[in-house]
Amino acid sequence: MKTTLIYFYLIVLYFKPANAQDIPANVYYPNGMVVTAHPEASKVGLAILKKGGNAIDAAVAVQFALAVVYPNAGNIGGGGFMVYRGAKGEISTLDFREKAPALATRNMYLDSTTGNAIVDKSLYGHLASGVPGSVDGMVKAHAKYGKLPWQTLLLPAIKLAKYGFKITAMQAKELNKNKANFLKYNPSGTALLKQIDDWKLGDTLIQTQLSQTLIAIKNKGRAGFYQGKVAKCLISEINRGQGIISQKDLNNYQSIWRKPITGFYKNYKIITMPPPSSGGIALIQLLHAVENYPLAKWGANKDSTVQIMVEAERRVYADRATHMGDPDFYAVPQAQLLAKKYQKQRMQNFNWNAATPSHMVKAGELWARQSEETTHFCVVDKQGNAVSITTTLNGLYGSLVVVSGAGFLLNNEMDDFSVKPGSPNLYGLVGGEANAIAPNKRMLSSMTPTIIEQAGKLFMVVGTPGGSTIITSVFQAVLNVLEFNKTAQQAVSFPRFHHQWLPDEVFVEHNALNDSTQNYLNQKGYKITPREPMGRVEVILKTPKGLQGGADTRGDDCSLGY
Ligand code: DON
Repeated sequence: MKTTLIYFYLIVLYFKPANAQDIPANVYYPNGMVVTAHPEASKVGLAILKKGGNAIDAAVAVQFALAVVYPNAGNIGGGGFMVYRGAKGEISTLDFREKAPALATRNMYLDSTTGNAIVDKSLYGHLASGVPGSVDGMVKAHAKYGKLPWQTLLLPAIKLAKYGFKITAMQAKELNKNKANFLKYNPSGTALLKQIDDWKLGDTLIQTQLSQTLIAIKNKGRAGFYQGKVAKCLISEINRGQGIISQKDLNNYQSIWRKPITGFYKNYKIITMPPPSSGGIALIQLLHAVENYPLAKWGANKDSTVQIMVEAERRVYADRATHMGDPDFYAVPQAQLLAKKYQKQRMQNFNWNAATPSHMVKAGELWARQSEETTHFCVVDKQGNAVSITTTLNGLYGSLVVVSGAGFLLNNEMDDFSVKPGSPNLYGLVGGEANAIAPNKRMLSSMTPTIIEQAGKLFMVVGTPGGSTIITSVFQAVLNVLEFNKTAQQAVSFPRFHHQWLPDEVFVEHNALNDSTQNYLNQKGYKITPREPMGRVEVILKTPKGLQGGADTRGDDCSLGY
């Protein structure tokens, strides 16, 4: 008997997907749930919920906690997007995306003689930063929906910064890898830099300057960041590196409540982020494109399923490159892109026998033309209020510049603009006029925080980091639940693939496609390219049995419920 059990255990181990984590897939919580990229941040969110805070209170506390315990992407020097659904069904979205400084110019990252994009100019250092939006966003979200006092929500982050927290093995590795970069951009040092030896698992990271900045935000709210000592430090840091953000830019920054994008996939209502993120429109376009195919019958990551998803992705990313940008500067043809009949028309030249080469696919002709570091977290509270936030510095540790005297990292979000038509950004994305740089404009994003209703009730909260792969990772997580009947944990751990029009390749994670599916696709002319893990998807499902969480096994992500 014992031997049989051991054999059984070995077989289970053998077949366990590479990334599967030992989270029981079928645990349900009756009251509330928080899923974030770091265990300490999840604990903060859960404690706020248990204290009687609502989902917004917990989300605000998590955003600040992530700025401390997940400095590669959690931030106060970056921006993000929030999708909210209240327990009674009211929906809203908050755009706290960074903006180009007033002194930004269209060609600021081009070589004046050759006219070519200067590699890395929009990516590293003081000129790469947009005007940060996260603090204003949290203040506005709390003012509209928060229940607990603002000060209470800052305290956990302050404590984590002041007394420190133990870093994970993955964090030690990432910090060590960036040692030379931190030194280069922060010659006077930063708490993220261990001068003598290397960081290791379990070391305590203390961020004293950051704790003082958080105290200023606790005491003065918006003014604690955009004015006074913190703002002074920010501006003198920018000036030290010949950046262009000014005090006026800080005074003028405002996050914006925007009307959510909504659409239907079968009987599920998708509530998601409008421009300046491309994610919401693209997600609904993708879902429309595959809605009428029997995906469940074909199976997840199997021949025809992959083929139809890839062909949809190719066409949607071509639209993204041409038609999407900051709606305050460019009239995004939203209604047309979201029309089911438009998607049907886009898929007409798809051919089951052969891949459609990307050079044959251009952005759709519209009927009437009107003018890897980010992080996601999900919270659902006892009343059923739900929050889905994706927030970012853009690249790993953003611009790599830590504001001296204030201890926080600045974003490198300017690279999300199309610095030159057709010139790919960090994620290989191309763009044109719609996403060209202009003063005070928001750069186009792929972030796709999303909430899904079934029969008028909260059903799923989802989102992920991953640059250009955000949209396709959310697409897959949604289908994993809606079509392939996976639990929240299975839906996020399942291996992923990705196509983004250009380059014309299907990127696949390890084990994402079996040999037979790879052969099927190769024979039809698809180029399959293995790549490192994509995204860190977080999911909460609300089921009749309770809340179920899925925290991505590709990172240190953590779901906690009560
Ligand atoms: O807004 C965007 O689309 C990008 N700045 C997101 C960057 C990102 O997800 C990096 N994470 N891995």
